[in-house]
Amino acid sequence: MRQHSGKSNLRGILPALLLLFGLTLPWFCYMLLLFPVFPAAVQADAAEPGELPAEPRPQIPGDYGGEKLIALTFDDGPRRSTTTRLLDGLSERGVQATFFLIGAQIEGNEDVIRRMDNEGHQIGIHTYDHVKLTGLNRADFDAQVEKSRMLLKETLGHNDFLLRPPYGMLDDSVKAWAGCPIILWSIDPEDWDDKNADREVQQIVSEAQDGSIILMHDIFPESVDAALRVVDALHAQGFLFCTVDELFAARGIELEARKVSTDPKLKMMDLIAKVDK
Ligand code: NI
Repeated sequence: MRQHSGKSNLRGILPALLLLFGLTLPWFCYMLLLFPVFPAAVQADAAEPGELPAEPRPQIPGDYGGEKLIALTFDDGPRRSTTTRLLDGLSERGVQATFFLIGAQIEGNEDVIRRMDNEGHQIGIHTYDHVKLTGLNRADFDAQVEKSRMLLKETLGHNDFLLRPPYGMLDDSVKAWAGCPIILWSIDPEDWDDKNADREVQQIVSEAQDGSIILMHDIFPESVDAALRVVDALHAQGFLFCTVDELFAARGIELEARKVSTDPKLKMMDLIAKVDK
């Protein structure tokens, strides 16, 4: 009985459904005709940013044209465990950095240092055992800088190393005796302090500018994590990573011994002003 009564109800509903469908079908067809309008409207929205006038790109001499360049630099290494992991990560990303090494950590890590050199990273001196270079006599200065230079020369077979004095401390004697360009930095996340990769990444990415030199330490696992995340984040923003030498060369700035270099940004702006005139 129930089945019979169900069929009977269905017979009553069916004409009503057909009527409703008949009434709505023309509207549905009308909507189909309108449909191509919607993607066009969406495209118009998406195209809007592209319609803004492109920013004029400065014409800068050098291989890199007007690209945003940035240099990662690492002090206080090598430390086999962390430095090797950093080199692996940089290699995967096709990035070259600059390493300011501690002379006392060369012995036993020669293969790590040769790998740096072979993979296109630049190498510098950060004293033999991380002392302040200011106020030293010449013999003590040489025991820190020249000794490290000779060990690197024996390891790598060349002798063109930059110098970064510990703590960035300089005086006239350091400049006179360095025998090579002295490189400081423009972004310091103080990664030795709280060893907080999240905070370091946030600070570096927010401060990054064309021409920045970033100071980190490849002896801390958190710094390695942060550095690789910074590379990914800044790559996504169109930055190219290069060595310190490449950074200055791309701006047409010659690095000279006895000259202290921090951030080529200001000099680069001078260069742009000259080109524009
Ligand atoms: Ni240091």
